[in-house]
Parts: sequence; structure tokens; C-alpha cells
Amino acid sequence: MKAKMIAAAIGALLVFVIAFLIAVTGVINVAADDPPPQWVEGVLHNAMERSVANRASKISVPELNDPALVASGAAHYNAMCVSCHGAPGVEPGEIAKGLNPRPPTLAEVSDPDPAAWFWVTKHGVMMTGMPAWGVTHDDESIWGMVALMTRFRNMSPDQYSALVAKTAGHGHGEHGHNHAH
Ligand code: HEC
Repeated sequence: MKAKMIAAAIGALLVFVIAFLIAVTGVINVAADDPPPQWVEGVLHNAMERSVANRASKISVPELNDPALVASGAAHYNAMCVSCHGAPGVEPGEIAKGLNPRPPTLAEVSDPDPAAWFWVTKHGVMMTGMPAWGVTHDDESIWGMVALMTRFRNMSPDQYSALVAKTAGHGHGEHGHNHAH
């Protein structure tokens, strides 16, 4: 009995020491253009999805069917998110091609979960390039983007650009210091 416990303790210690050595020797390649094996990505992606689902289950989703809310999301989204995620009729930019994992094209997600998307937008996903927008934006602005993004599947490029044109000047980017007098 005692011998078995000692063996188990030594086994656990060995695993720990090996993991530590792998980490400190620098053999792990952290390059973004040399992705890890498929199964490692699978395990990491699964852990991310479970973590988000767990936290999102505590969020109550407000009424998202509000045209003013959707419009408020368009100005924010077009300024901050298209470079990585694209939009109806808008290709993602070059930044998206060099990222690993690749930012998902949100218009192609078939059953978006508003609570999960709110959580990810607010808190970000560490070591992926997905920033935490809650650091600079209140919940209301984030729900606006969620209301917009969850409609992408049924939104034409014209509808998207009309929303953006209508809100230009009310969000980011477009407005600012151009009243030079
Ligand atoms: C620099 C690139 C980058 C920018 C800019 C960016 N994202 Fe992301 N985003 C990512 C990456 C990469 C992921 C995937 C993370 C993963 O798979 O673990 C992601 C994931 C997401 C997801 C989860 C999608 C899903 O189905 O799992 C949502 C929602 C999202 N981003 C919303 C936004 C919003 C809203 C903005 C702008 C306010 C934004 N992102 C800006 C890179 C970016």
C-alpha cells in the first residue's frame, strides 16, 4: 500500500518535471505561422468553448430585436472588428490571415449564441488575438455589436453598408477632429 503511494507520488513528480523541462528548454514552437498538431488545437479549442459556455450561462440576454441597438453596433463593429472577422460583403483584412487561430467569419456561424458572443466580446480570448473590448466599452455598446453580429447570416452586403453609412460619425473612427476652423 505504502509502496504504491510512493510510486504514484514519484510518477506524478516525473510528469511535472518533464512538463517543466519542456517549458523551460524552449522546444515548444510559439510561431503563429507554424500551427500545433490538429489534436492540440482541438483540445485547446474545446477547452475555450467549455469555458465560455460555462460563464455565458450566467448572462441574461436583453431584447436584441431593437433597430436602434443594431445600428449602434454597426458603427462600433465596422471600426473595430471587420479587419479580423469581416462582415456581409466585407472581406477580413491582412491581419486576419497571419493569425492563428484564424478569426472566425461570424456571418458563417450557423447558430450564434448571443450570451457566448457577448462574453467573448467583453472578455476576449487569451493568446488568440481576440481582445477584451469590455476594457474600453460598456455592456450596452457590446450588446449593440451582439445584436448586429447575430443578424449577419440574414443580412445582405447592401443592408450592412447602409447601416454603417447611417451610423457613421456616431461611433468610432469616422468622427473626431475634422472640424478644423
Ligand atoms: C486582431 C483580430 C481580432 C479583432 C480585431 C477582433 N477579433 Fe474577435 N476573435 C479573434 C479570434 C482570433 C477569435 C477566435 C478565438 C478562438 O478561437 O479561441 C475571435 C473570436 C470572436 C468571437 C467568437 C466567435 C465564435 O463563434 O466562437 C466573437 C463573437 C468575436 N470574436 C467578436 C469580436 C468583436 C465584436 C470584435 C470587435 C469589437 C472583434 N471580435 C475583434 C480575433 C479578433
